Amino acid sequence: MRTVEWRGKPVWILRRTPEMLASLKKTDAEVADPNSKRNPDEFTPEYCVNEHRSRKPEYLIAIGICTHLGCSPSTKFVPGPQPSLPDNWTGGFLCPCHGSTFDLAGRVFKNKPAPDNLVVPRHMYLSDTKILIGKDEKGEA
Ligand code: FES
Repeated sequence: MRTVEWRGKPVWILRRTPEMLASLKKTDAEVADPNSKRNPDEFTPEYCVNEHRSRKPEYLIAIGICTHLGCSPSTKFVPGPQPSLPDNWTGGFLCPCHGSTFDLAGRVFKNKPAPDNLVVPRHMYLSDTKILIGKDEKGEA
C-alpha cells in the first residue's frame, strides 16, 4: 500500500489481490453499509458506489482517517485470529483509538464507533499508472 498526501490528509492506494477482493464477499453481511448508500457523494463518489468501492476493482483509494474521531487506522492485512480482531478476520484496517474495524474496501464493520465507511476522495485515472486525487470529470472536490 502506498500513502500520498492530499490537502494535508493521508490517501491510501491499495492494490488488492484477487484473494483480497474475494474477501469482500465474505464481509458483505458484516459491514454496516455494504453498498455505500449512506451520505451518497460525501463518503463515496457515485462511480465508486459498488462492492469494492473503487473505479478499478484492483485499487482501493481512500482517505486514511477514521470516520469516528479522526485517528489513523492501521493496516491489518493478514487474515485470521489476532489481538483486537475477530477470529474470522479476512484482512482490513483497525483503528487503535476505539477499535473500529474496516474491511479491504474501507467499509466499517457493524456496531463499531465509526459511523461511516472511510472516505473515498474524488479521483480519476490519467493513465493506467497515474491517478489524480481531488478531481474528476465533474471538477474539483
Ligand atoms: S477514532 Fe477510530 S475508532 Fe475512534
